[in-house]
Amino acid sequence: MTLENIKLDVDYVRSQFPAFKDPLSKDWSFFENAGGSYVPCNVINKLTEFMTSTKVQPYADYPMSKIAGENMDKATKLFANMINSKENEILIGGSTSINLYVLSNALKKFISPGDQIIVTNQDHEANISPWRRLEGVGAKIIEWQFNLDNFELEYSTLEKIINPKTKIIAVTHCSNIIGSINNIKKITELAHKNNIIVIADGVSYAPHGFPDVKELDVDFYTFSLYKTYGPHLALLYGKEEILKELPNQNHEFLNGKYPYTINPGGPNHEELVSLIGIYEYFEGLYNHHFQNKRITISNKIKKINELISLHEEEIANPILKYLDDSENFKLIGKNKISNKNRAPTISFTSKKMSSKMLSKKLVDNQIATRNDNFYAWRCLKALGIDADDGVVRISLAHYNSIEETKKLIKVFDKI
Ligand SMILES: Cc1ncc(COP(=O)(O)O)c(C=O)c1O
Repeated sequence: MTLENIKLDVDYVRSQFPAFKDPLSKDWSFFENAGGSYVPCNVINKLTEFMTSTKVQPYADYPMSKIAGENMDKATKLFANMINSKENEILIGGSTSINLYVLSNALKKFISPGDQIIVTNQDHEANISPWRRLEGVGAKIIEWQFNLDNFELEYSTLEKIINPKTKIIAVTHCSNIIGSINNIKKITELAHKNNIIVIADGVSYAPHGFPDVKELDVDFYTFSLYKTYGPHLALLYGKEEILKELPNQNHEFLNGKYPYTINPGGPNHEELVSLIGIYEYFEGLYNHHFQNKRITISNKIKKINELISLHEEEIANPILKYLDDSENFKLIGKNKISNKNRAPTISFTSKKMSSKMLSKKLVDNQIATRNDNFYAWRCLKALGIDADDGVVRISLAHYNSIEETKKLIKVFDKI
């Protein structure tokens, strides 16, 4: 079978997520996925299993402890395979914001007074503030601003602002407001020619397809696991050659034992183990759609990513078109997804009412969404949008259906 005649089986997908059967949520169209996604039963089962049978201190020789430790290692290994990294290049922390503050503290050692750090005004604050704080050690912060006509972070602008003093570029893989996907590989190529470290925020990208970090060649990449169908944790990937050089921010006796040296403390055990459930879900998804079982985990992920992208295009493009054609709304970002140039994270404002009121009307019609600045207040400021009222954001995931898209458009018509 070729990909052309395989489509994502959305009924199968939805059958894996208990929220679609739960009395509280089953009648709602859930469009707040960029805030946090639902979890499949595999994740819930893994969490329950851990809490029931192995909720003890891991890595001792008695069976409950041994299995707990083995499962923690297994979760890390599987995630490394899924994003094509090595196991010792992965750190699991409480959130992306925490991971990036911890990382900026560690990278301080590479910054001398007068060095430059590039941040953007398209990013979520989590990938801005930790770097701006390095002004405290003498760094000069340069803002890479997006083009207000097309909302894009332009490569030609980056070429102009980097110079021999630039040490770090912190940039989002995908804006959580504009939805555009930035070319991290191209940015990294330019950065590496100039000995610059790239930190990419993949929080809005990863729910639509786990990245291949080696292909991107990025130095650090982070995403929030609670938005990729898991518990409230976040993953930070770092290239081994750089991780090795970072200072020990953990207990003294761990000196040299990277990556355990980066986070001051260990991860949440039960949630870490539940990540096996994300892998199992994707493995099940692959097996449901494809026959060839003899390919690597990261290649399976790539096949699923393609299915997901095609489905997301199909369910998001009618919404983008509706908003773009409408006299009443102002769509932010590209009006069509093609070739994964945009995520199905759709922000807009109304020309007739506040975002708060618009969001309330959608909620009154069982559309789960909200208005906010989604912590990308610099982006909203550049767009001239009141950061308190913010935008309304409809953010889709692969488990959303075309029926939900049609329902949303009907509700738009009504309100
Ligand atoms: C693009 C983006 N980056 C970073 C973050 C911060 O993630 P966390 O909540 O895990 O700190 C978010 C959260 O919404 C986000 O959307």
